[in-house]
Amino acid sequence: MPVSKDNAEYKIRNVRVDDAEILLEIERSVISEGEYFIVVAEELEKKPVQEEKERIQRRLDNDKETLIVAEVNGVVVGSIEFRSQTTKRLSHTGSVSMSISKNYRDMGIGKALLKALLDWAEENPLIEKVSLGVLSTNQRAISLYKQMGFLEEGRLMKEYKLSHGKYIDDVLMYKFVQ
Ligand SMILES: CC(C)(COP(=O)(O)OP(=O)(O)OC[C@H]1O[C@@H](n2cnc3c(N)ncnc32)[C@H](O)[C@@H]1OP(=O)(O)O)[C@@H](O)C(=O)NCCC(=O)NCCS
Repeated sequence: MPVSKDNAEYKIRNVRVDDAEILLEIERSVISEGEYFIVVAEELEKKPVQEEKERIQRRLDNDKETLIVAEVNGVVVGSIEFRSQTTKRLSHTGSVSMSISKNYRDMGIGKALLKALLDWAEENPLIEKVSLGVLSTNQRAISLYKQMGFLEEGRLMKEYKLSHGKYIDDVLMYKFVQ
């Protein structure tokens, strides 16, 4: 089993439908931090577990999508997913999003999850381009994406407005995998 920088053993595996509850919990707590995603805490609606289970099942049923989780001591601490596009001319692309619980960051788990996703994409002849958007303030994520070979392809300038009148760009990044 791989060991993180802090000597915690972690395991990378495909998602299961019964991960729904913990994935919702992680999503809610990371969004509540208010730093990393577009949605803010007060906009969060309580998503029913059944809805999350259906979302997981859709990822499992779609050859062009994946959802991979990281576990420490048998508990899911983070996940990464790839969502594909249905339009024909975009069908070779898709986008990544990932989250690790606060206490498990900077241990190398995000890098392991992203590597697993890129390995999956490289093996998948249907996927040619992996894309993502990241807030320009998220230096940790941007540094990880660059380390793993992503390049910036542009920015949506001042795309997000913070409540205190500051703006954040949306940095668009990509990696070709075929
Ligand atoms: C972004 C995220 C997925 C990365 O996962 P992680 O497990 O924390 O990342 P890792 O430990 O594998 O790697 C992070 C790298 O960034 C580096 N890093 C950390 N903080 C940094 C900073 N402020 N500036 C530059 N680099 C930084 C680390 O040193 C590490 O690089 P190294 O392996 O060369 O030392 C995780 O931190 C997270 O979930 N954050 C909150 C949600 C989020 O930002 N999701 C992505 C939205 S686009």
